[in-house]
Amino acid sequence: MASTTNAFSLSLSSKSNTNLSSDSNPKLNKPLNLTLRGSGSGSCELSLGRLALSRSSQLSRRVCPNATRVMDQSVGEKSSAAPTIVEVDLGNRSYPIYIGSGLLDQHELLQKHVHGKKVLVVTNTTIAPLYLDKVVDALTRGNPNVSVENVILPDGEKYKNMETLMKVFNKAIESRLDRRCTFVALGGGVIGDMCGFAAASFLRGVNFIQIPTTVMAQVDSSVGGKTGINHPLGKNLIGAFFQPQCVLVDTDTLDTLPDRELASGLAEVIKYGLIRDAKFFEWQEKNMEKLMARDPYALAYAIKRSCENKAEVVSLDEKESGLRATLNLGHTFGHAIETGFGYGEWLHGEAVAAGTVMAVDMSYRLGWIDSSIVKRVNDILLRAKLPTAPPETMTVEMFKSVMAVDKKVADGLLRLILLKGPLGNCVFTGEYDRKALVDTLAAFCKS
Ligand SMILES: NC(=O)c1ccc[n+]([C@@H]2O[C@H](COP(=O)([O-])OP(=O)(O)OC[C@H]3O[C@@H](n4cnc5c(N)ncnc54)[C@H](O)[C@@H]3O)[C@@H](O)[C@H]2O)c1
Ligand SMILES: [Zn+2]
Repeated sequence: MASTTNAFSLSLSSKSNTNLSSDSNPKLNKPLNLTLRGSGSGSCELSLGRLALSRSSQLSRRVCPNATRVMDQSVGEKSSAAPTIVEVDLGNRSYPIYIGSGLLDQHELLQKHVHGKKVLVVTNTTIAPLYLDKVVDALTRGNPNVSVENVILPDGEKYKNMETLMKVFNKAIESRLDRRCTFVALGGGVIGDMCGFAAASFLRGVNFIQIPTTVMAQVDSSVGGKTGINHPLGKNLIGAFFQPQCVLVDTDTLDTLPDRELASGLAEVIKYGLIRDAKFFEWQEKNMEKLMARDPYALAYAIKRSCENKAEVVSLDEKESGLRATLNLGHTFGHAIETGFGYGEWLHGEAVAAGTVMAVDMSYRLGWIDSSIVKRVNDILLRAKLPTAPPETMTVEMFKSVMAVDKKVADGLLRLILLKGPLGNCVFTGEYDRKALVDTLAAFCKS
């Protein structure tokens, strides 16, 4: 890690010559808040339970503004109601995100996305006893031609590495899986990222399905096709863009999720509000206690709205040429905490929460936001029982060395996602006064 400080030092002293702020990129211009295809309040597609994001109308959608603002009471009911569907629009690689309660009991939902006769379920030692049988049943009931193998990985971010990935390949090869098999990721973001990367590279690519079981995975990691593993020098440095066939979010799986994990996922929910959806942030301010108390309607709404935001960003910028990077608000600082502190000590969302506070602090130092936003961010994170500062052991040098290998470094220049303007607006830019970054690091680190 120590050998990586140079690029960052460069970035602190070099003057940016690229303008990467959203102001200069028409794709990034506001408003990008979600709107729906259709042309009148009566013809809004959400009323049919389906939300489609049209590529052709990407930049000019302005329809049915209330549909996504009102809590959808049909989502998350404890019955086998039809799922809410959010479509990720990526041309011929488009896929649905099914959201609802009891979806693992609706076998046809999963089965229609299975290709071939062999399935490999990738999960871990914590989730297997809870949900593996249910998933195998969902895959095989009334479908005797399908055979299901499984591989149960050790649990934890520290196992998101090459060695663990090899266990997936070993099982796939031993089971003689061919190109027409389907990999199923059953678990949180760690399993989803690893299974997705295994699916992207096994036989140069096989089908895969995401069944996310944490808030983090249901609102963020299972959507958008980023897959990968960690390297000791940095998080998620090895991976591939690889889209699933579908994402199945059975909100009942959250019943067994520990409170700390629930809160960790909410850090990403808060992020969507801050970077692009002020109304959603305001909704969260009103409903945070309900979310923390696992109110099923509140959780289902937060998942749906988060997926809508993520789906829209991904459909506009799948490979992260600009807009998609804004989903990393707080992540550059956060990844430094995760890496510097050792994977697994702080949860991803906890590190992102502290990182968000640092990014917001820096935005304020730059004069890009007013102090009320700084306060609102602190308040909502505290209500979500998330950290608002990095661990005390983090030093300025630890931040610098990890941030130097961040994927958003280009030509030695560290680009950051910072808030700018009214709530719900951000920029992805390398054009900022380096002093603000230095001051933020100094303010949050003891040495
Ligand atoms: N690919 C992306 O776009 C993307 C986006 C965000 C995060 N991520 C990655 O996601 C990972 C974090 O994901 P995470 O927060 O889901 O962590 P995780 O996958 O480690 O899951 C958290 C813990 O909860 C347990 N668990 C999962 N579901 C459960 C359930 N229903 N009941 C009880 N326990 C359950 C897991 O076994 C684990 O111990 C990080 O590696 C991060 O880099 C990826
Ligand atoms: Zn994240």
